[in-house]
Amino acid sequence: MEENTDSSFPNTGLGLSGLEPDDGAEPVLHGVHSVRSASQSTLDPSETRKFQRLANKWWDEQGEFAALHSMNDLRVPFIRDNLLNVTGGRQWGRPLSGTRILDVGCGGGLLTEPLGRLGADVLGIDPVEDSVRTAELHRSFDPVLRERVQYRACPLEELSEEEAEAFDAVVASEVVEHVADLDTFACCCCQVLKPGGSLFITTINKTRLSYALGIVVAERLLGIVPDGTHDWEKFISPVELERLLESSGLVVQSVRGMLFNPATGSWSWTQSTAINYALHAVKQGEEPQPERARSPAETEDHAVSSDARDEHLVKLKKWQLPCFT
Ligand SMILES: C[S@@+](CC[C@H](N)C(=O)[O-])C[C@H]1O[C@@H](n2cnc3c(N)ncnc32)[C@H](O)[C@@H]1O
Repeated sequence: MEENTDSSFPNTGLGLSGLEPDDGAEPVLHGVHSVRSASQSTLDPSETRKFQRLANKWWDEQGEFAALHSMNDLRVPFIRDNLLNVTGGRQWGRPLSGTRILDVGCGGGLLTEPLGRLGADVLGIDPVEDSVRTAELHRSFDPVLRERVQYRACPLEELSEEEAEAFDAVVASEVVEHVADLDTFACCCCQVLKPGGSLFITTINKTRLSYALGIVVAERLLGIVPDGTHDWEKFISPVELERLLESSGLVVQSVRGMLFNPATGSWSWTQSTAINYALHAVKQGEEPQPERARSPAETEDHAVSSDARDEHLVKLKKWQLPCFT
């Protein structure tokens, strides 16, 4: 398989590593929740500092997180449809009813809220306490969400000890490119998933094109995201991410390329995973059973047969796509 990546791209030293110089000193983090020693933590202090500064900007649809708002047009249906394929569940209006989702690195809850509106019980976690406060405040305006969406300021590794095999799905959207230890992060995601549960990741590939468009154009020239948001060295190719997830006990089901159009501010699916991509993986083991009882009509008309589910689970590597770099 042709790998859609170029991890040999040199570090140009053009300030790729964030907003603040890394002087090697132990950082003091205000409003950032941390419980473990640095060697076991997924937290990168320079990354959490960036989001600390933007913690009250999450719900400005024209602001720094505008591209995340519009990304919901792709990622919400991607999560919903893949979950329904795996579980065979359907409930019109609230299709994710009975599904427990963990949104890791939820920020201000831009993705957490729509998942709650689809009927899921969602726990959003983020290490930046001020972002969690923003998310809680925004949720408080919607009585429906108050029942279904909870937030907590904590790192994933803290939760993985308490909530082993507790979630039907884990979502980490635009997060893995900000974590310090991706192996620990993947292990923790796997640990909190029920056997057969789904992991959804959206992130940025490590290619020349992602450097040119994602950092030079999007950050420095057009200011679509704040300059210094991304460190190219932390980007990861779909192939490398699949390898890492499989070593944690997850099987990748599908990967789809995503393309942002700066002229319209909108996203579309694309054949190429050279810049942004969405990935769905399933934890090996038993498949989760939908918790609610279905009516006979629903079972006949809409439930996916176990044969169809098995077929879905063996559809691997359907994303061998052309390399754009
Ligand atoms: C680009 S934002 C994405 C927010 C949200 N997932 C969305 O798409 O709207 C990245 C988020 O990851 C969080 N984050 C950074 N390091 C993290 C870590 N090690 N574990 C979990 N979340 C982290 C940041 O605080 C920030 O809220």
